[in-house]
Amino acid sequence: MVSSLCILVLTAVLQGSTIAAQIPKNSSPFKPATRTTGAASAAVSVSLGGVTYVNQGLVGFGRIPSNATESTGDTIGGIGSAIAIKPGTWQGQSNGSYTGTLVVQPDRGFNVISPIDYQARRHELAFVLTPYSGTADLTFAQATQTLQLAYKNTTLEFERNNTKTSGLDPSAIRAAQAGSPANPLADPQMPIASTSEPHLTIDAEGLVANADGSYWTSDEYGPYIYHFTASGQLIQTIQPPPAFLPMDSKGNLNFTANVDPATGRGANQGFEGLTLDPITNTLYAILQSATIQDGALQFTRMLAYNVSSPSTSVPLIGEWVVPLPLSSSGKVEATSEIHFVSPGVFLCLARDGNGHGGSGDNIKYKHADLFSITGATDIHGTAFDQPGTPVAPKGKLSKSVTPATYVSFADFADATQLARFGLHNGDPDDNTLLDAKWESLALAPVGASAPNDFFLFTASDNDFLSTQGISLGVPYNAGEDVDNQFLVFRLTLPGASASVAKALGI
Ligand SMILES: *[C@@H]1O[C@H](CO)[C@@H](O)[C@H](O)[C@H]1NC(C)=O
Ligand SMILES: *[C@@H]1O[C@H](CO)[C@@H](O)[C@H](O)[C@H]1NC(C)=O
Ligand SMILES: *[C@@H]1O[C@H](CO)[C@@H](O)[C@H](O)[C@H]1NC(C)=O
Ligand SMILES: *[C@@H]1O[C@H](CO)[C@@H](O)[C@H](O)[C@H]1NC(C)=O
Ligand SMILES: *[C@@H]1O[C@H](CO)[C@@H](O)[C@H](O)[C@H]1NC(C)=O
Ligand SMILES: *[C@@H]1O[C@H](CO)[C@@H](O)[C@H](O)[C@H]1NC(C)=O
Repeated sequence: MVSSLCILVLTAVLQGSTIAAQIPKNSSPFKPATRTTGAASAAVSVSLGGVTYVNQGLVGFGRIPSNATESTGDTIGGIGSAIAIKPGTWQGQSNGSYTGTLVVQPDRGFNVISPIDYQARRHELAFVLTPYSGTADLTFAQATQTLQLAYKNTTLEFERNNTKTSGLDPSAIRAAQAGSPANPLADPQMPIASTSEPHLTIDAEGLVANADGSYWTSDEYGPYIYHFTASGQLIQTIQPPPAFLPMDSKGNLNFTANVDPATGRGANQGFEGLTLDPITNTLYAILQSATIQDGALQFTRMLAYNVSSPSTSVPLIGEWVVPLPLSSSGKVEATSEIHFVSPGVFLCLARDGNGHGGSGDNIKYKHADLFSITGATDIHGTAFDQPGTPVAPKGKLSKSVTPATYVSFADFADATQLARFGLHNGDPDDNTLLDAKWESLALAPVGASAPNDFFLFTASDNDFLSTQGISLGVPYNAGEDVDNQFLVFRLTLPGASASVAKALGI
């Protein structure tokens, strides 16, 4: 999700200099969490909808070195864009460790200079989690033993006629056909492949691993949601309502991420978050920040699809406005992921762009927060689904819309918690500085001894930044080494046990 242009756009978004003025003061129902004690691994609790949720602190840290490679020969890079625990693999061991397989998904390859013809893919990593809940500070080397990760294999993605997907910026469109909406394509003029068929372009961000081995991937270009078989063949594409689609001022689709469209998702502000309620088979996708027309970047939207019959066209069944947090200077902390907790309740990874591999060293906001759509207005199928009707004209949320209730929760950059794992916030800018771009969430149960407690796994996207990189078989030096970091928190999430167990096949 990063190109030099995109860095500029994102920096403008995150710094919000021109946008801040449009955001109404005191419009966010944002509430801070309460720290209960000053102890080293102090629990932080927050109340939402009458339920108390507790962050019991960091219990695991792991890393994949920046120069690690995968089976195609490329640098593994960027794998924290999305993660999922592979169904059927999570296992508590008698010695207190937990083992399993993580499915991880990079976005679109090393694209700091420009987007490349990177075939979308996912990797499997075996892990051993040995939770550490002591108060003494581990060294960085000791901390990396708490979550041990081992690369297993890679599955590449293909669309119709076994054609590879691409990460290139979409410069062409394939018209809608039976069973498929209009598709973003890589420039067919470019010498990009041995086949004459242009490539479907995907900037992958969200991931849901299904029990049958198939999986859903959300993307930034469309912004679309794709369903793939276990072996990486595309079988279904979900197109969101017209209000989400990137259109020029004449209402024509244009999927480029080089510039913002006139209406629809902003450039590089597509479906960053994707999550499934496995009990009702409801798939939820969220935009990184609001659509261009919606009036204030803060007011993003989440969609719900009924995927009970995924081989047929899946119906849109819900849509809500989610008010993202604002910094003290009015900047939007855009969302990089969501995760279903219980009916109506979601975790939301909202963050700034600072940290290792990011725009500055001092992290101000990197959280797994909570929001609830209970009581929020379902706007699906209304005029808001058309590009001409913004939800927040001139930055003021329409009176007809009650947004989700959003509360602050788990702070990734808590200095005391980071120090317990040999990590820090701020200078120096080395591999013990917390990474900038955390973009993934996955839950697993602690076990019968604590039925409301869960491990929250999260990983960073290092943008493939390595001084010893390999991209499409060609060595590169990105001028910086940024590991893919993994954190594991222990959270008390009442109401989450049924959906987590179903998702993991327990
Ligand atoms: C990555 O770098 C380390 C340290 O320089 C080196 O020991 C290791 O062999 C490298 N790994 C790969 C896959 O190049
Ligand atoms: C516990 O057992 C697992 C599985 O055999 C092993 O991988 C792990 O290293 C062990 N943990 C400890 C702390 O010995
Ligand atoms: C990838 O590795 C996992 C874990 O070892 C294994 O279960 C799976 O079958 C492998 N998949 C492929 C495509 O090799
Ligand atoms: C690719 O597949 C589609 C339908 O799946 C078909 O209509 C089209 O002709 C095929 N294109 C080529 C180049 O084979
Ligand atoms: C899409 O927009 C870009 C940037 O404005 C422009 O260069 C390109 O020609 C447009 N593509 C189409 C198919 O209209
Ligand atoms: C989802 O669709 C299935 C049929 O495919 C239906 O039985 C179920 O009631 C629907 N669920 C919702 C929440 O609309």
